[in-house]
Amino acid sequence: MDFNKIRESAEYITNQIKIIPSIAVVLGSGLGAFAEKIEEKIEIPYSEIPGFSTCSVEGHESVLVFGKLREKYVMVMQGRFHYYEGYSMEEISFPIWVFRAMGIKNLILTNAAGAINEELSPGDFCVITDHIKLTPDSPLRGVLDSEFGERFNDMSRAYTPELIEVAKEVAFGMDISLDEGVYAFMGGPQFETPAEIRMLYRVGADLVGMSTVPEVIVAAYTGMKVLAISCITNMAAGVNNEAIDHNEVNKIGEMIADKFDYLVEEIIERIRIE
Ligand code: HPA
Repeated sequence: MDFNKIRESAEYITNQIKIIPSIAVVLGSGLGAFAEKIEEKIEIPYSEIPGFSTCSVEGHESVLVFGKLREKYVMVMQGRFHYYEGYSMEEISFPIWVFRAMGIKNLILTNAAGAINEELSPGDFCVITDHIKLTPDSPLRGVLDSEFGERFNDMSRAYTPELIEVAKEVAFGMDISLDEGVYAFMGGPQFETPAEIRMLYRVGADLVGMSTVPEVIVAAYTGMKVLAISCITNMAAGVNNEAIDHNEVNKIGEMIADKFDYLVEEIIERIRIE
């Protein structure tokens, strides 16, 4: 990890926006409409930011959107980087390092996920309480910079309990059902096999997806508070007899995007800024 590049990137963004946002938000596939609600917007294309990559996935734009939402300044990543696109763990997590270097202390991540646990179904929202990563690659491999964190960092509270509570309270107040679950990170781009899903079920995973975990590892390392919420778009492979259709996944995502945006917005309003 090139820490000079991180600082250069943080300085570039800070110079454009002048204010340190209190919350960074990383939007998952098909959930990009969220940024439309932001006021006093400043948009910075990733291509202009030193060190940022650009996204290749359809439905993911490559713009950083800064502005005001519910009286809080937020920084929204419209489009994230995935391992399956060929990015390294370093490239995927680069923006998170930059947010931390800018002084942002809270991170909200959203994603689309498949349900392993049969109590979940397409259209449900699920707050991630923990994760399982079976791939050995880590965004922290080789990283050591005392400004950011220690060599061996604790992951037992990576998904900040206080923010999970806020999310649950907000959802309850809105009469939106919000499940809790353990997210398994798989590299993709192929969906999992039914045997892989059976294995993930046995090791304790409730849902599965191809994002979020690299970003959470860096956020936890640098001491950011993290909230991660999944939108369940399909039952994982083999859970029912249906094949997974990417278009179907996108369709479910689109159907519930408005409700999801609204939930995240309310959560942003309720997060306490120190
Ligand atoms: N597996 C992995 N990633 C996903 C899935 C899935 O079933 N659904 C949405 N993202």
